[in-house]
Amino acid sequence: MTVRAAVIGTGIMGAEHARLLERQVSGVVVTGAFDVDTERCRQAVAGMPSARVFSDPIELIFDPGIDAVVIASADLTHERFALAAIAAGKPVLCEKPLAPDIAGCERILAAEVAAGRRLVSVGFMRRFDPGHRQLKQALAGGDIGTALLMHCVHRNRSAPAGQPTASLITGSAVHEFDAARWLLDDELATVTVHRPRSSRRSSPTADPLFLVVESSAGVLVDIEVFLNCGYGYEVRCEVVGEDGTVFLDAPAATAVRGAAGISRSLAEDWRPRFAEAYRCELQEWIDSVAAGAVSCLASTWDGYAATAAAQAGVAALDSGRAEPVRLPPRPELYGAELYGAELYGAKVHGAVQA
Ligand SMILES: NC(=O)c1ccc[n+]([C@@H]2O[C@H](COP(=O)([O-])OP(=O)(O)OC[C@H]3O[C@@H](n4cnc5c(N)ncnc54)[C@H](O)[C@@H]3O)[C@@H](O)[C@H]2O)c1
Repeated sequence: MTVRAAVIGTGIMGAEHARLLERQVSGVVVTGAFDVDTERCRQAVAGMPSARVFSDPIELIFDPGIDAVVIASADLTHERFALAAIAAGKPVLCEKPLAPDIAGCERILAAEVAAGRRLVSVGFMRRFDPGHRQLKQALAGGDIGTALLMHCVHRNRSAPAGQPTASLITGSAVHEFDAARWLLDDELATVTVHRPRSSRRSSPTADPLFLVVESSAGVLVDIEVFLNCGYGYEVRCEVVGEDGTVFLDAPAATAVRGAAGISRSLAEDWRPRFAEAYRCELQEWIDSVAAGAVSCLASTWDGYAATAAAQAGVAALDSGRAEPVRLPPRPELYGAELYGAELYGAKVHGAVQA
């Protein structure tokens, strides 16, 4: 079966997803696209002969010529399109965040549980990054023993002026929240946010931020988020265990030795750094759609948990204290059987119940 996929929101990420689906992912053809900016949409799918530019996103979702939908529009629009896709019974890959607020995530959870099957996948692509996968294997294989600490660095070369300080948490650290949950196989319990001295390049945004997250099992995760580091895009991570550490560096194919030094290049932004991760994520998603199977991408629950951690982080930014990550009080309300009963019980014992 060739999957007929559509993309809603054809900005930076949506155009990239459309390009990857059409040119680098097998078993799929792009048959639809929508953006409120019609010209941008046309340009994104130019050269894709089967792609129809829709004038209404809900019509696109329900169109019989569309099997599956990528949501890559602005964060605030994700919930509406995810709910429509669930109503249409169509698999959807929603860019992060699932929804910017917990209430929106809960509505999507409730709709999916009512539908009785998993239709929503969330675009936490680090789960498909070869380096992150090796990190996961090292942890799961017991190479470093029980995890105790995790140090994370997330730096962007630059960002447009005027970013809300909270966006460092909701837009950037949210990737680390998901990566920590996935790598440690644990829920997050509390988030504290420190504001070091701010970079002169970032004013009035408080940048960088330094977050300290405690997992339910007591692992401490520190996260530096720096939107205007000035030199390149970099994601690093080290997990410290009882018997050793495992370190994920910014990958580089070559190192140049010269002028009494060694230099390696860095990505300009997230697209080259995670190009393989985006491709693998889309391929896995398309394969699961073609097989009529549940995808192994991040689930609605994972999207909910990451937004809950981000919301705790935004609260901590204001309060200056450790804020609890609030998880649903009663798992049956949210269909633990759909997302795995192990989500509840031992793993959330340390997390505060809402
Ligand atoms: N996974 C990742 O690594 C990653 C990286 C960057 C962005 N993102 C996420 O991807 C999404 C898109 O980000 P971006 O960087 O491409 O932003 P962007 O601003 O470049 O693109 C967003 C697009 O959405 C369109 N849009 C806005 N409202 C719409 C609506 N109601 N219906 C249809 N289209 C609408 C805009 O016209 C724009 O073309 C965001 O949710 C963002 O958080 C994920």
